[in-house]
Amino acid sequence: MTTPSLPWLAANPRARHPSSGHNLPFGRDQQFVVNPNGVPELLEELGQCPAHKVTPLHALPALAGRLGVGEIRVKDESQRFGFGAFKALGGVLAVYSVLSSAVGDAYHSSTTFAALMKREHPEITSGYVFTTASSGNHGRSVAAGAKLFGNRCVIFLPKFTSADKEAAIRARGAEVIRVDGDYDTAVAECRRQAEANRWTIISDTSWEGYEQIPRSVMRGYTVLVEEIIQQWPPGPTHVFVQAGVGGLAAAVFGYLWARYEPRPVFIVVEPESADCWFQSNLLGKPALASGNADTVMGGLACREISPVTWPVIGLGADWFMTIAEDQVVPTRRLFAGPLKSDPAITSGPSGCAGLAGLMRVCADQTAFKALGLGASSRVLLINSEGDLGEPLA
Ligand SMILES: Cc1ncc(COP(=O)(O)O)c(C=O)c1O
Repeated sequence: MTTPSLPWLAANPRARHPSSGHNLPFGRDQQFVVNPNGVPELLEELGQCPAHKVTPLHALPALAGRLGVGEIRVKDESQRFGFGAFKALGGVLAVYSVLSSAVGDAYHSSTTFAALMKREHPEITSGYVFTTASSGNHGRSVAAGAKLFGNRCVIFLPKFTSADKEAAIRARGAEVIRVDGDYDTAVAECRRQAEANRWTIISDTSWEGYEQIPRSVMRGYTVLVEEIIQQWPPGPTHVFVQAGVGGLAAAVFGYLWARYEPRPVFIVVEPESADCWFQSNLLGKPALASGNADTVMGGLACREISPVTWPVIGLGADWFMTIAEDQVVPTRRLFAGPLKSDPAITSGPSGCAGLAGLMRVCADQTAFKALGLGASSRVLLINSEGDLGEPLA
C-alpha cells in the first residue's frame, strides 16, 4: 500500500490488512467492541417490534460505471423504522438491554422485548430515567426506546441541532435540555445531571469506566450489517463509513471483519472540522479534532472519538479521510437525482458523507490507486440518515 501525500487522506500504519502481507485476526480485543454472536437472536427480538423492517440495499450501476468501480451498493437507513436514520437501532436496543438485564438480575430469568413493551415488570423497570446527549438522531432513538417501555427520558442537545430534530424528540415524550455549546458540551452537562439525579445514561460514545452501554448501542447497529450480508452475498471489497465518534464505523467494520476472510478495505470519512479519527490515526492514540466541529454534517460534529472503538477502528481501519463542506450539497443532489436508471435516494448532510468520500477519492487518481479501487471493486456505502429537517435548497 503506497501512501499518497494528500492532506485529506492518510493510511493507518497499524492496520494489518491481508493485502499488505499482514493479517491481524479479529481477536478478543475486537470482539469486546463488536461481537457477532447472538445477532440472529437480536434480529428475532426486533421482529417483535411492529415497526421493524429490513432496509433496502440499493445498487447504483450507472454511478459505478462513471466512477470506474465495479459496483456501488448503498444501505439506505433513511427508511429505518420510519425513523429516518440508523440511530433507531442503537438507542432503542440499548434501553431494552438495560431493562432486560435489570429484570434478569432481579429474577434470575430472562424477559423479552414484547414483555417489556407490555410493562410486565413495572416494579423493576418503571423507576429508570434514561438520558443522553445527542446531536439529534441518537436522542430520538433513546426517546423512542424509553417511550416504548414507558420510561421517563431527558435529552441534552447542543445549540446547533435543528428545531425539527428537537420537535421529533419531544414528540416521543422526552424532555429536552438545550446547552449553550456543542455536542461535547452537551455530553458534559448530561453526565453532570445524570450523576446528580441518578439517571441512566444511554450514550453512543464511551469514556473511561463507561463502555457497556455504548457497546450495546453498537450491537444494535450490527443489525444493519447482518442485513447487508444477507442482501449481498459476495459482500464488499471497499467500505466507506462516515464517523462521528466512531460507533457506526466500528459496528460496520468490526462485523464485516469478523465475517469475511479476506476482509474488505475500510475507509473512515469525516468532516474537515471534526476530524477526530483522522487526528487520532496520525497520533496513534485518541486525539482531539483539529477544528471546532463546526460542520453542516451535524451527526458527525464530534471533537472526540469513542475510545472503546479503538481496537476496531484504530487498529483495523485502513484509511482515514476528510471531506469538504462544499461537497455536501452536490452529493445530496447526486443521491436525489441519480444517473440514468439508478434509484433516487433521500439523504441528509451526514447521510451522504460516505458517498462524498468516495467521490473525493475517485476524483484523484493517486488516491484511487492507493485504495486499490478499480473495475473489480465492490463498494459499500451507508446512507445513515434521510432528510430530517435539513431540506436541500
Ligand atoms: C446520520 C448520522 N450518520 C453518522 C453518524 C455517526 O455515527 P457515530 O457517532 O457512531 O460515528 C451519526 C451520529 O450521530 C448520525 O446521526
